[in-house]
Amino acid sequence: MDFVGSHILSVAQFSRLDVERIFAVADLMVPFANRRRITSVLEGAILSNMFFEPSTRTRVSFGCAFNRLGGDVRETTEVKASAIAKGESLHDFARVLSGYSDIIVMRHPTEGSVAEFSETSRVPVINGGDGANEHPSQALLDLYTIQKELASTQKGIDGIRIAVVGDLKNGRALHSLLKLLSVFNNLQIHLVSPPNLETPEDIVQILHDRNHRVEVFHNLTEGIEHVDILYVTRTQEERFESQQDADRYRGLFRINRQIYTQHCEPNTVIMHPLPRDSREEAQELDEDLDEHPNLAIFRQTDNGINIRMALFALVMNVVDHIEDSAREVRWHSGVQQHN
Ligand code: NCD
Repeated sequence: MDFVGSHILSVAQFSRLDVERIFAVADLMVPFANRRRITSVLEGAILSNMFFEPSTRTRVSFGCAFNRLGGDVRETTEVKASAIAKGESLHDFARVLSGYSDIIVMRHPTEGSVAEFSETSRVPVINGGDGANEHPSQALLDLYTIQKELASTQKGIDGIRIAVVGDLKNGRALHSLLKLLSVFNNLQIHLVSPPNLETPEDIVQILHDRNHRVEVFHNLTEGIEHVDILYVTRTQEERFESQQDADRYRGLFRINRQIYTQHCEPNTVIMHPLPRDSREEAQELDEDLDEHPNLAIFRQTDNGINIRMALFALVMNVVDHIEDSAREVRWHSGVQQHN
């Protein structure tokens, strides 16, 4: 795809080559993401970060990524603080906001809403999550993490075995991840969920159409055996009809050290888009795994910065200009990335 000036709404936009291009640019961003080096390539540019659903890491990492490229960030985080609360349409809202900003990231509870917003936006719009539909930047950082985690075993993404676990019906991060994975070859995919929370049929069909081996499990311990990647997700309680309905699934599938050690291979990498639900009754990913070297969840969040910087740099066409304004830093916090 031609990234320059494009909206990023769905992973369906990306070919395998596009994914490789994003990852190559993300690698270039690492010293800037770590603030070992500084660039002001987006000086004077404004990102409007519009988050109409709860978010910490996606909102903050998009904002920090833009700041790390030298741009400024304006944020609105609640519907009630925006004119949408006065009945303004997404189309009007986009017309107005795009007059004030150079790029917009939006998260919204309704499926398709970010695409609708983008129709009248005069600047690029990036989907930060639209209901249960998609979360493209999360899928990119997940796949980038998978590639990095497997690098030491000489494995690429082709041929990997992955189990996705939890609320597969409502989890937009894994919807995007499964679609993005589908452009690679020969994958073995375990879809592990309680009954009634299975992956939407259209996504399973995409995986079948591309000849991947897909197996559905309703039993946790069977589903997590013989995989390279274990991708755990939270029950998306906010998408259920009622809290009572959501409570039926709370704590049903839990990964802890004992289950992991007994059923996974010694090198199985553990991932989670976060937040994990650490309340006593839920615990889909127990803290007793926190010191385990195969737990990649915080390396995964670190990767969110350089992946999002890469998206901004590609869409705003500054990849080749980053070096022009690059400087070494005089002060550094000394914080290292997770390893
Ligand atoms: C996910 C989301 O919001 O879709 N979180 C995230 O963006 N990292 C997953 C979740 O909320 O469970």
